[in-house]
Amino acid sequence: MEKRVLGRTGREASVVGLGTWQIGADWGDVAEADAFAVLDAALESGVTFFDTADVYGDGRSEQLIGRFLKSRPDADVFVATKMGRRAEQRPENYSLDNFRTWNDRSRANLGVDTLDLVQLHCPPTAVYSTDAVFDALDTLVAEKRTAAYAVSVETCAEALAAIARPGVASVQIILNPFRLKPLEEVLPAAREAGVGIIARVPLASGLLSGKYTKDTVFAADDHRSFNRHGEAFDQGETFSGIEYATGLAAAAEFSSLAPEGATPAQTALRWIIQQPGVSSVIPGARSVEQTRSNAAAASLAPLSEATLDAVRDLYDRRIRAEIHHRW
Ligand SMILES: NC(=O)c1ccc[n+]([C@@H]2O[C@H](COP(=O)([O-])OP(=O)(O)OC[C@H]3O[C@@H](n4cnc5c(N)ncnc54)[C@H](OP(=O)(O)O)[C@@H]3O)[C@@H](O)[C@H]2O)c1
Repeated sequence: MEKRVLGRTGREASVVGLGTWQIGADWGDVAEADAFAVLDAALESGVTFFDTADVYGDGRSEQLIGRFLKSRPDADVFVATKMGRRAEQRPENYSLDNFRTWNDRSRANLGVDTLDLVQLHCPPTAVYSTDAVFDALDTLVAEKRTAAYAVSVETCAEALAAIARPGVASVQIILNPFRLKPLEEVLPAAREAGVGIIARVPLASGLLSGKYTKDTVFAADDHRSFNRHGEAFDQGETFSGIEYATGLAAAAEFSSLAPEGATPAQTALRWIIQQPGVSSVIPGARSVEQTRSNAAAASLAPLSEATLDAVRDLYDRRIRAEIHHRW
């Protein structure tokens, strides 16, 4: 598996990583044995980058990863976690005291002295212009609670503000064939500054696999049932913010662009990893099969210019008007 340096962390991460929101919560029930099987399949497929958060299953995702890595002491996995969502979303809660408390809980959950990377978890916009927040993050590094810090963002404007902060190692942002805006300014700015880019929601919550229909039923405790219009958190996190019907039609067309031997989901991942500036893409796999198939996208040949043009054309015709101005 190809590895790339993850921005200012200076450490390498596999170009296909693993998102682990789904093994915590909000995607229906995932049994512990299934979660371990996914982590195991990822590692066996060459994945060395896991993305988690302190709120996924209220710590369950972190704890499972911690227990799994304890059982695999030779595995050199880079674990990125997140903090900030355990408190009400007010800028003043992004304080050094809270950071220390949240970091210490994540260190205990993951079973490490020093976190590899902690990301602010889509903080309120005012946080980006608050110097004290970034001073506090520098303090966490000085105290060796975390080796590096980063920001997971909702909008391109927030990404640019984060990139301008000299201590930010990487930016996590939604980027996929149905979310092209980060290509305009965010990826070039990140490259210029040496900041890593972690591409999340790469399959538009599974839409880009082309497997859903208008009759697909998602579990009641799956955000694809309860957050389609941002009822619980930012709408952009569910189906990339696209109306389900729009997404289905666009996904059918996207599927027709998959090269021979590649699934539509692999084509989406391949599209992401060949965008200049991307460090790692973190699909959220729910089964061993999905995990292996996603990892295999790293060894596909680059998509042709004609395919890249067709993706842009599809976006412009079907999706741009709905979402381009929002995120
Ligand atoms: N605010 C934040 O910082 C934030 C927000 C969201 C996500 N994230 C991170 O980003 C990660 C990835 O995003 P995501 O999980 O929301 O969305 P995603 O990766 O776009 O979609 C995940 C879904 O895609 C489907 N899938 C995965 N691999 C597949 C394959 N090979 N073939 C067919 N279908 C496949 C599965 O759907 P089925 O269940 O239908 O099979 C899976 O649940 C998360 O796990 C998390 O680590 C961070």
